[in-house]
Amino acid sequence: MAAAVSQAGGLGGIAIGHLDLVQARAVIETVRKLTDRPFNVNLFCHQTPSPQPAVEAAWLESLRPHFVRYATFPPKFLEPAYPTPGQEVLQLLLEMKPAVVSLHFGLPEGFVAPLRAAGIYVVASATNLHEALLCQQAGVEAIVAQGMEAGGHRGCFDPAAEDEQLSTLVLVQLLKNRIDLPLIAAGGIMHAAGVRAALQAGASACQLGTAYIACPESSAEPAHIQSLLQHPPPTVMTRAISGRPARCLANLFTAIEGQPPDYPIAYSAGKALHAAARAAGEFGYGAHWAGQGAPLARSLPAAELTQELCR
Ligand SMILES: Cc1cc2nc3c(=O)[nH]c(=O)nc-3n(C[C@H](O)[C@H](O)[C@H](O)COP(=O)(O)O)c2cc1C
Repeated sequence: MAAAVSQAGGLGGIAIGHLDLVQARAVIETVRKLTDRPFNVNLFCHQTPSPQPAVEAAWLESLRPHFVRYATFPPKFLEPAYPTPGQEVLQLLLEMKPAVVSLHFGLPEGFVAPLRAAGIYVVASATNLHEALLCQQAGVEAIVAQGMEAGGHRGCFDPAAEDEQLSTLVLVQLLKNRIDLPLIAAGGIMHAAGVRAALQAGASACQLGTAYIACPESSAEPAHIQSLLQHPPPTVMTRAISGRPARCLANLFTAIEGQPPDYPIAYSAGKALHAAARAAGEFGYGAHWAGQGAPLARSLPAAELTQELCR
């Protein structure tokens, strides 16, 4: 999909936050074989979580009835689902030199300057003015202004901090007023009308996620696509699946209450529960990320959708 989008005149993106170094290298090489156009490599930049044994134990207990329903038990203990990106990831990026690197969840110490020195265009997400000012100070070249409407993980730097819950268009206008960098509007943009509105509000570009979930090139699970295209349920912001706030199509998982451990420790439990339920034919515990624009999703080839939006 990333290659198809770049070939069609957009900037395709691949996320490597959930991959190990070998997989990350392979996926970057694969995109490079499919297109000689620029593409973006995206990184989740979470802090290393502190173990919270009591919180983890209580969370696993609250998930127990769900596991038992699928004839299994919750894991005995939880490990972070992904490592925190460190020097080895930075070295890989410096070696592979994708045209663009985008950072989500904050600014890892010592990443921006070396990436820029290597000629890589560095982008970071912000959900409010404070985060955008930190991005600017850190020397990034463009800011993804991610509104509350957006599907998937909210890019907030500190998930424990109070969230201003700014919408995409308000955020873009606030940042335009104070930040001297190109802004990339993200959240709720599904059609040309949304692109036009974002550009008019001061964005230089738009970043879309939900609009691409149902493209034939998508690697989203069939149940995710089906839920999106067939009378999608409302979306909800939930921490239950991964431990960080993320917008998801309401399903069995988003209905679970309680206090999950920090990201990405909670994600290990989330993935285990989804796997257990899926093995029994129940797909309602998947991470069905989607933004508020979900009911506007279409199933178009990625190139066609990109060309339409660019036009
Ligand atoms: C299925 C899905 C997966 C996503 N994965 C990532 C990711 O890995 N990294 C990231 O920075 N943002 C991710 N996002 C968020 C997007 O970058 C973007 O902020 C969001 O999709 C924009 O809102 P929209 O979904 O309304 O278009 C994801 C979004 C969706 C819907």
